[in-house]
Amino acid sequence: MTDVSALNARFGIKGKLAFREGKGGLIGIEVTTEHSTAVIALQGAQVVSWIPAGEKPVIWLSTGSKFAAGKSMRGGVPVCWPWFGAHATNPALSAHGYARTVPWDVVETKALPDGAVRLVFRLAESDATRAQWQFKTPVENHITIGKTLDVELVTRNSDDKPVTITEALHTYFAIGDIRKTTVTGLENCDYLDKVDAGSRKKQSGAIAFTMETDRIYVNTKAECVIEDTAWNRRIHIVKRGSQSTVVWNPWVEKSDKMGDMGENGYLRMLCVESANAAENKVTIAPGTEHRLYVSYRVSK
Ligand code: BG6
Repeated sequence: MTDVSALNARFGIKGKLAFREGKGGLIGIEVTTEHSTAVIALQGAQVVSWIPAGEKPVIWLSTGSKFAAGKSMRGGVPVCWPWFGAHATNPALSAHGYARTVPWDVVETKALPDGAVRLVFRLAESDATRAQWQFKTPVENHITIGKTLDVELVTRNSDDKPVTITEALHTYFAIGDIRKTTVTGLENCDYLDKVDAGSRKKQSGAIAFTMETDRIYVNTKAECVIEDTAWNRRIHIVKRGSQSTVVWNPWVEKSDKMGDMGENGYLRMLCVESANAAENKVTIAPGTEHRLYVSYRVSK
């Protein structure tokens, strides 16, 4: 369903949830609760804004982002699925899979008793998606907007053989100044350093940022905290069903090459991605499902 009036008639919630046509003709869902507001794009079932009441935005969206059908947006909470990074065997396929650039169907919207709003999306399969992925793995994104922002990606294996995926909730956080930001929780973890030919290293102390940083921390279920001293706040990241955490900031040169980071955008963003990547692939047995869950909250 891509008609805004039909979507509002079926899934709108008075005063809390409305569908609107936004930039590039993409459909957005505006969610208003007593605790926070959010905007979610139907393309990619991608959260593009989350603002707790009285707070600065927690989710970053680039001022240079493209908004067009089939193009990935720069910012928000992109869903990387059913593979993370380059495809394992076919370099012609898009990095991070196709889930973030295709429309998803709305399955359910619901106002919860605690004041939060929950939305369930299902990736709409098509000849184009089936050409890239030949397995029967319906996938849903469950998003809850309230005191916290919770995102849960549910992959079901309806096939008759095991299916292996990699994946990430590739969240872009808004921060005051990357040069005054650190990430804690990954001390002593092993990581693959993508800016050093993927070499394996061990994290010592908190992560600080002085250059392009692109790391897959492996075998970690740890809670991470973004310590944002410029904005004097912390963002807490709690996850389940995730063994990897990706930490990424493109810094100056790579941002210039990317062309959609906005002016000095790299100073105001940081990706901390709850993932299953590299050696942490997930194999899903036939008839079972796998859940990748993350919850974000802010504290002073
Ligand atoms: C990160 C990767 O997850 O995503 C980086 O580790 C990559 O290597 C970045 O550059 C952005 O990817 P994309 O496809 O959105 O430009």
